[in-house]
Amino acid sequence: MPAEFRTDIKNNAGGVYNHIFYFMNLRNPAPNTPPTPLLSFLESKYKSMDAFEEALTEVALSVFGSGYAWLVINAFGNPDIVTTANQDTPLTMNMYPLLNVDVWEHAYYLKHYNKRADYVKDWLQVINWNRVNQNYLNYTKRYLL
Ligand SMILES: [Fe+2]
Repeated sequence: MPAEFRTDIKNNAGGVYNHIFYFMNLRNPAPNTPPTPLLSFLESKYKSMDAFEEALTEVALSVFGSGYAWLVINAFGNPDIVTTANQDTPLTMNMYPLLNVDVWEHAYYLKHYNKRADYVKDWLQVINWNRVNQNYLNYTKRYLL
């Protein structure tokens, strides 16, 4: 991609992708837990959903400024939690995204003001685990068969 367009494309196309992905993985009411394939995958690293949610929250709260926290499948095929700044995505970092949380202040300021932790706690209640599980199954069909 020509250098003069790279930042604009990354910021705008990344913003579209990141927000569509974020909203597609939300549902209210949401299922309480992931279906077994995804649950087993997450427990292989985090041991329990409580521990996973704690790790995801910690990472989401660590984002400095504007960005996202992501549950991804890393280059080794393992679950991982990463952050991206601004509208960067893990797609360009050899990672497969399963779930993201927008932690730009605009995502939570109207309801939670500057209390990102309250927003993340509420967001954890509306994750569409069936959809996230489908993201995981799409990965397994594409890369593991
Ligand atoms: Fe946003």
